[in-house]
Amino acid sequence: MNAHTLDREGIAAATALVAGAPTRAAAPALGGNAQRGSGLYRTCATCHGEQGQGNQAFNAPPLAGQNDWYLIRQLESYKAGRRGGAPGDIWGAQMRASTAVLGDDAGVRDVVAYISTFQPNATP
Ligand code: HEC
Repeated sequence: MNAHTLDREGIAAATALVAGAPTRAAAPALGGNAQRGSGLYRTCATCHGEQGQGNQAFNAPPLAGQNDWYLIRQLESYKAGRRGGAPGDIWGAQMRASTAVLGDDAGVRDVVAYISTFQPNATP
């Protein structure tokens, strides 16, 4: 089935599926040591919240429920300066600096493994 063949009911079902997507935890797919990651996450929690719920006051988006491959890609991009490296991007620069604690690639995978244990829409 594709968008051209969706009838009214199909569109409603597809919309419900997308609307409901963030209410379940993302399935961890890429490994990593969540226990080690929980230690690394201590500094992240300051801005993103204990359960990855985000904090608008710091411009820090929610992380809970996000796919692990996406989180890993973002963290690698910050580390490499592909994201958050533009002049004047103060929030990106802050996040870039925050990746220092993660060290190597294992640190990135471990912290993401821990973030993957969060339930989206959890109250702080
Ligand atoms: C000083 C506050 C602060 C700390 C500490 C911090 N972050 Fe962030 N984080 C931000 C901000 C602000 C953004 C949005 C930056 C932007 O606009 O690019 C962000 C963005 C992100 C994103 C991108 C989210 C998306 O949806 O694209 C990820 C992933 C992330 N942070 C993970 C982490 C992890 C993991 C840690 C701990 C190692 C951490 N952050 C520590 C403030 C922080």
